[in-house]
Amino acid sequence: MIGSTLGGIPLGRIAAVFEEERTAYVSRHPRSLQRTGQGIAGFYEGVPMHWMKDWSMPFPFLVESAHGSTLRDIDGHEYADFCLGDTGSMFGHSPAPVVEAIRAQAGQGLTYMLPTEDALAVGRLLRERFGLPHWQIATTATDANRFALRVARAVTGRPKILVFNGCYHGTVDETFVRLIDGKPVNRPGLLGQVVDLTQLARVVEFNDLAALEDALSHRDVACVIAEPVMTNSCMVLPDAGFHAELRRLTRRAGTLLLIDETHTISTGPGGYTRAHGLEPDLFVLGKPIAGGVPASVWGFSEAVARKLTEVRAASAPGHSGMGTTLSANALSLAAMRATLEHVMTPEAYAHMDALAGTLADGLRRVIEAHRLPWHVVRVGARVEFICAPGPLHDGTQAEAAHAPALERAIHLALLNRSCLIAPFHNMMLVCPATTGRQVESLCGAFDEVVTRLTGQDDGAPGAPVS
Ligand SMILES: Cc1ncc(COP(=O)(O)O)c(C=O)c1O
Repeated sequence: MIGSTLGGIPLGRIAAVFEEERTAYVSRHPRSLQRTGQGIAGFYEGVPMHWMKDWSMPFPFLVESAHGSTLRDIDGHEYADFCLGDTGSMFGHSPAPVVEAIRAQAGQGLTYMLPTEDALAVGRLLRERFGLPHWQIATTATDANRFALRVARAVTGRPKILVFNGCYHGTVDETFVRLIDGKPVNRPGLLGQVVDLTQLARVVEFNDLAALEDALSHRDVACVIAEPVMTNSCMVLPDAGFHAELRRLTRRAGTLLLIDETHTISTGPGGYTRAHGLEPDLFVLGKPIAGGVPASVWGFSEAVARKLTEVRAASAPGHSGMGTTLSANALSLAAMRATLEHVMTPEAYAHMDALAGTLADGLRRVIEAHRLPWHVVRVGARVEFICAPGPLHDGTQAEAAHAPALERAIHLALLNRSCLIAPFHNMMLVCPATTGRQVESLCGAFDEVVTRLTGQDDGAPGAPVS
């Protein structure tokens, strides 16, 4: 924030635009207001999941249906959906092959703690696509990360995990640490936190190879867990050569490398890993891997598998601390097979990548035309505009680049113009069903909103949004 501006926009103007958009939203959603305006009965704080209160709107609209790249609410509005369930629906809502697979499995039993024919296919498909020989299925990316980290500790016999400041890998305890004034601390806001997580984790800035080398030199780090591009704060790209050095330094220190592709699978059919020749020991992918049905996968190398077998042979019988009852259920395996075979195709990615490029270029043009100190970052089908100068280099810079009040006003204004983007920072995803027209409409809406914010239309907000 500089003086009384945020991202170059006067605070008063942001507040006025937000108020104008809030009023427009309320008047455009009478049915949703009636159903959710007082909160949904039976749920703590009125929503079944607390994320649902993190959107910019004063109350959530009720979704009537969603198909492909389009979502409809009960008030009769249609949205070009660039949020896509924040990645869970990255390949579009209800892709036809996934619907067909769910339908076929639905009458055959949903979960039995035993494999189906689909398991045979999925094992082969995961090996081929991502290059690692050994896989397990979990239900969420959080679970997959948690289990993979447990394996890393088991096979290295080391206690600590190294994370990059500003990361998010789900609700995995040891990743909930931050650097504040250069010192590791528990992430602010954690509830019920009774353990000092800095005892279990080291934390360094992304792209800081000297700090990484120093942290690994203690030789107590079992595993570095990293997104190849930091996508969970304002987006931070790796410096040229960063990943090669990360791999070299981890190998030298006897530390395993876990690449979490849950968001960066936007890069291409084999994720950032395959596109950039990364060589992780452990690999995690959740969210869209079963086309929106809850499921995640985690894979590991032959060397990790060998060591794991040794460790298991030497340990007492009992619960490994890994796995949940519904993991690898028949329904999710059927959906995953359909997604891998028919949805996550090179053709789908070519479409997503090209349109995301068009979207990023369009947003950049708007920012330049309005001479705003903002920038746009893209990793394949994932695009983000950031209301601060860039490029950003690490998590501290990414945190400082956030402009929550401004972002909230933009999100709501875009929504009132029929474009839905993720409620967290300014993330947009392009799916195989997204059309050029939808991208044009988002760029047009963005231009209109920025024009309102910069006061280049009439000098004061107030015109109603239809
Ligand atoms: C990189 C990354 N890993 C893991 C997760 C956790 O996913 P889930 O909430 O499905 O457990 C997220 C969620 O945003 C993520 O971005």
